[in-house]
Amino acid sequence: MKILGIETSCDETSIAVLEIKKGKIKVLSNIVSSQVKIHAPYGGVVPSLAAREHEKNLKPVFEKALKEAKTDIIQIDLIAMTVGPGLEIALWKGINFSKELALVWKKPLIAINHLEGHIYSNWLGLMSDKIFPALNLIVSGGHTQLVLMTGHGKFKVIGETQDDAAGEAFDKVARMMNLGFPGGPIVSKLAKNGNPKKFPLPRPMLNQKNYNFSFSGLKTAVLYLLKDLGEINEKTKVDICASFQQAVVDVLVTKTVRAAKESKVRSIFLSGGVSANKLLRKTLQKETKKLKMSYSQPDFQYTGDNAAMIALAGYYKKLKSAKTKSLKAESNLKIKNW
Ligand code: KG4
Ligand code: ZN
Repeated sequence: MKILGIETSCDETSIAVLEIKKGKIKVLSNIVSSQVKIHAPYGGVVPSLAAREHEKNLKPVFEKALKEAKTDIIQIDLIAMTVGPGLEIALWKGINFSKELALVWKKPLIAINHLEGHIYSNWLGLMSDKIFPALNLIVSGGHTQLVLMTGHGKFKVIGETQDDAAGEAFDKVARMMNLGFPGGPIVSKLAKNGNPKKFPLPRPMLNQKNYNFSFSGLKTAVLYLLKDLGEINEKTKVDICASFQQAVVDVLVTKTVRAAKESKVRSIFLSGGVSANKLLRKTLQKETKKLKMSYSQPDFQYTGDNAAMIALAGYYKKLKSAKTKSLKAESNLKIKNW
């Protein structure tokens, strides 16, 4: 079975070809055309520009994905596309492109939730089902959620951020220090040379019994710290990055570990753009080991937005005979059972 995945929820135009043969998953191609350079001068993603770029890039990315996969569109068995959550006008570009392909080539279509896609980025290197119940920590630019999974397509959101997402906090802190966009990779790179204990920043909601998060207060604490400090040198800058990163990781890991223990899961999965953060990866892996649970994190190439994860979620969703009734962009689409 060959699946074409299409992802345009934010600022990456991505198309992938996935092959599932005798129970083995093979990513034949996964083309990601990033628009980071276009949005960087604005300090964030500009929806109208994102939509314009998707419109321009979809066809060449599609052709490249097929070529690299040495696949003809005739050989594709299923088209899986992201329908939300994300930027509505960006999502529509991918949906319309997919619809047209499906119509012309008579292919079945399956609608995928972007966050469910992130969860499945972990299965790109895994085929075992002996991991359920699993707890997913999804950390991206728009979302921070703890999702309990009792089987394929069986999700329950048990906690989420009450304000900013973890990635958003990284981006905002980077902006406050004029470090560039997106902030996560820059802040984490600088943090490597900093002292994480230098500035005692708050760990919001750390001791609350629920599994929710809040990052807006932490971001504001960094803002006040910067105001207090006035002009800062390079050393102070890296110490702020390290202290901020440590606060985010402490909260994410502590709450995930507590949720995992209390939910008695067999495994912990990390996913989303922030899963590229090395400190988060290392800390969560170490803590999971102590719990004697299995742990999975996506390969670096699948941490950010990509279509391979969408194609794989499409495969599992199709196995569940899930029907795609509505084909519309839903910017606030929630995680739902299949
Ligand atoms: O999943 P993603 O690519 O897009 C969304 O669905 O939002 O996540 C993007 C987010 C951005 O906020 C970016 O700053 C963050 O992931 N990010 C990181 C790192 N790499 C990307 N945050 C912290 N550390 C990183 N190494
Ligand atoms: Zn994402």
